[in-house]
Formats: sequence, C-alpha cells, structure tokens
Amino acid sequence: MIKTTIKNERLQTHKTECLILFCPEEKKPSGKLAELDAKLKGLIGTSFKNKRFKGKHNQTFLLNVPKPIQADYLLLVGLGKVGEITGDKLRQAAGTAARCAENEKLSTISFYIPTDNSAREIHDGLAKSDDSFSQTVAEGSLLSLYHFEEYKEPEKDKPRRVKQITLLTAEKSQVSSMRSAVARGRKLAEAVYVSRDLISHPSSTATPSYLADKARDTAKTLGMTCKILKPGDMSRLGMGALLGVAKGSQEPPAFIALEHHGGAKNDPPVVIVGKGITFDTGGISLKPPASMDEMKMDMSGGSVAMATLFAAAALKIPTNVVGLIPASENMPSGTAIKPGDILKSMSGKTIEVLNTDAEGRLILADALTYAARYKPKAVIDLATLTGAVIVALGHQAAAILGNNDELANQLQQCGEVTGERLWPLPLWPEHEKAVKSSIADLKNIASPGVGAGTITAAAFLKAFAGEQPWCHIDIAGTSWSGEDKPYTPKGASGFGVRLLIRFLEQEATSNPS
Ligand code: BES
Ligand code: ZN
Ligand code: ZN
Repeated sequence: MIKTTIKNERLQTHKTECLILFCPEEKKPSGKLAELDAKLKGLIGTSFKNKRFKGKHNQTFLLNVPKPIQADYLLLVGLGKVGEITGDKLRQAAGTAARCAENEKLSTISFYIPTDNSAREIHDGLAKSDDSFSQTVAEGSLLSLYHFEEYKEPEKDKPRRVKQITLLTAEKSQVSSMRSAVARGRKLAEAVYVSRDLISHPSSTATPSYLADKARDTAKTLGMTCKILKPGDMSRLGMGALLGVAKGSQEPPAFIALEHHGGAKNDPPVVIVGKGITFDTGGISLKPPASMDEMKMDMSGGSVAMATLFAAAALKIPTNVVGLIPASENMPSGTAIKPGDILKSMSGKTIEVLNTDAEGRLILADALTYAARYKPKAVIDLATLTGAVIVALGHQAAAILGNNDELANQLQQCGEVTGERLWPLPLWPEHEKAVKSSIADLKNIASPGVGAGTITAAAFLKAFAGEQPWCHIDIAGTSWSGEDKPYTPKGASGFGVRLLIRFLEQEATSNPS
C-alpha cells in the first residue's frame, strides 16, 4: 500500500510535487491559506476572482507555483457550498484530488489539513460522522488510488503512480491525533482493498478453496478462529441447498466460518453472511453470454464478510462477530441440478428449484440456518442477489430488507456516513406467499408476472432467517462500478466493508462488555 506520513511544517517551506488545498465554494482563502496566497501574490484568490475555479464539489484546478514556495504544483479541490459539506464530500474531494495528481504524473502529494478553528465550516460538516478530517482524507485518497494489476506483465515504462501521501499540519499539537486518525483511515482502506482484490481475481484463481485458504491463512496471522466445512461436513449437516448448487461443478464447495471474539465470552455475536458464488453461469438455466465475465464478482458479499471480519480483528473491535461464507461455483453439467429438482435444506424445508440461476438464495438459505447456532443478536447478509435491484435503484444504492426495522435503520444511517447508501424496500405477506411451492415448502423464484424480483428473493430468505433479527442487503448494483467514481476506480468497489465496520464499532460502544 502507498506510504502515508504526517508532517508538521510550514505551508510555504514544505517540499512536495503537489500540494493539495481543500476549498469551500466561493470562499476566499483565509488563515494560513491567506498567508500562503500573499506569498503567491494572490494567485489562489485570483483563480476564484476570474472564475477559473469556484470551489464546486470535486472541481480541481492545478496551478504551477513560483518560488519561494517549495511545492512544484498547487492543486485546488472544491468542497462545495459551506453548510452542505459532509464527511463523504471531503472523502470524495480527497479521492478526486489524489487521482488528478496521479493523472498528472505527480508521485509525492501532500494534503494540507487545516486546524479545527481555521476551518470551522468543514469540521462542522464532519461532526455527524465523528471521523476526523485526517482519517477521511487518508481513506478517500487511498481508496481512489487502488489498482489491480496482478495479471499484467510489468511494463517497461510503468505509468507514474502516487507513492507517497503526506498530511501536512501547521499545528504541532495536532500531530499525535492525526497519527491515530491516519492509521485508522489506512486500516479501513486496507479492508476495502482485501475485498476488491478478491472480487477482481478471475474465477479460475478465486475458487471456493482459494477463499477458504485465504480465510484460514489470514485468520492465523490475526489470531482469529476459522472453521472450514468440507462437502462431507455439509452432507452431515444436511446442507442440501448449498450442495445442490455445487453439484454441477468440478470445484468442491466450501463453507467458511470466521469468528472474532472481541466481546465478553457469552455475548451474542453479530453474524455477517456473504454470498460466495465464485462464478455464476446460471447453471442449466444458463445466462446469456454478454457480460457473463462480470459474474466472477458474484462472491462480492463473501469478500465483504471476510474483509470485515479481518478488519474487526485488526482494529480489535470489542464485540463478538462471526462471518459465514457459503462458497461454490454455479455451473451447468451432467451432474448439475435441473429446473424442477427439489432440494432439502439444512432447516428441513424443501425447495423446488425452478430456475438454477436463482442460486444465491439457495446457498444463503443454509448459511442463515447455520447462523442460528450462534444465537446472534443480529444477522446481516450481503449478496449480489438480483439484477432487479439495478432496475429499482441503479448503481447508486443497495437495497435493504429484513424483519427488523430498527436494525435496517441503523445500517442505513451507517451507510449515509460512510458513503455507502442503502435504501429500504418493503417485504409484505404477499411476497412471502409468492415463493410458496405447490409441491415443496418453497420455490426459488416467484411465478412470472409477480415482479418485485429483489423483494421475492428476500421473502425466500426470510423463511430461513426465522426469528433472528435479520437484514438482507442486495449489492448486485453497487459491488461493481462501471466507471471511475471519486474514490472508487472502475471495477470492484468493496461496497459494504466500511459500513459494516462502522456498524460493529457502534454495537461495541452501545453495548460495552
Ligand atoms: N448473480 C445474479 C444476480 C446479479 C445480476 C448480480 C447482475 C450482479 C449483476 C443472481 O444469481 C441471478 O442470476 N439472479 C437472477 C434471479 C432470477 C433468475 C429470478 C436475476 O437477477 O436475473
Ligand atoms: Zn444466478
Ligand atoms: Zn448469482
């Protein structure tokens, strides 16, 4: 990961290739920036005056600066209107500026971190998140500078990348709090990187066994418990739904259980369940070829569960957390399940499989049943479950559904702060009726014409969540970004990781053990 350092130096004498300054909209430089601007004979002020730069959110403006200033370039980045600045806007601005500098081939960059008093308007915007300015800047810039290049031959003339991020303060007393804030920002970004890497690997690498090995190895280094159930164990437990999905594949399925014991011994844990389909062809109900390659991301939920558990251990969050990842391929073959087949799940409920492409809910069914063994205080599942969620919400938000509004509200609020939006959809008795089968207990798709694909999928899961306080998050539209976003480069997003870490930290402080 890119190096981060903290320096207590004067703006004018700090040596860097690119000095980045955050600017609220239509606000002339004040405080230390005004001093710098005076040295620059009003260069920054003039950019505002002649309307070349207005400070609109995520607007950037690169200036070549004269001596005696020690920075090669000044990069202004807009925060938008005062009073409307939020933590996520700052995170985005930091990400935008970092990427802009990288595109300009600048490899050492420095963010000027104003003191609390000199930038009241920005700090007020952060108050809701209680994440500090420095953490947000570290997080946003590191997230935006992520690259996945494991399968590329090392190029002779490698594109110049940012190698060093400095957070600069003029106030010595700020240094120690900045140090812990930046360390935290790094840990959060690292967790997102873990999830993005797992999603980005092709399915020939990231098989169920690969996920299991990664979980086991990382758990060992972090001192956490990791259990891997093999197909034999699954049969003994009666996990017929997970085994049914895996039947068509040469790759053996794996059921990963990670445990972080951060709370008191008998405190009920939060269980995070993640869909781990390492490739979804659709099975016998084969998907069309266009964009099928993207289905390597069908283990996004599993990767988020794994990354969150690792982060919980790395950050030593004082609460108990369990991560469950049912992992399998969904393949068509002579041994695959066929439409019309009936599977017996671990819960004892039978499932008529009418479409083998609705496989995610099958493997989650057994994982939700397994979750009950922990007598959890909350179960949260994340899954790239339905294309219908993209119809409903596009790529701007994940859908949240479940049997507990309080839990859903809390998760939604966490996402507001971390910039990972959740939006609620209803789950009514009619939807539950729509997944009842005439010859088995349930069917894995509703009849044609029912519509509400995201909701009927959740209604199916509800039958297996039982009485546990449970929420389902459908991330099919948010776990892969088709374009560069301020701090999410095109590709795997790692959506959900920071939100869940925040949720776990809240749980730990609201119920201290
Ligand atoms: N993995 C897909 C859902 C998906 C779609 C993820 C687009 C990411 C992007 C899931 O297993 C699936 O195929 N769902 C079907 C359900 C249908 C058969 C009821 C779908 O959404 O078409
Ligand atoms: Zn599918
Ligand atoms: Zn799928």
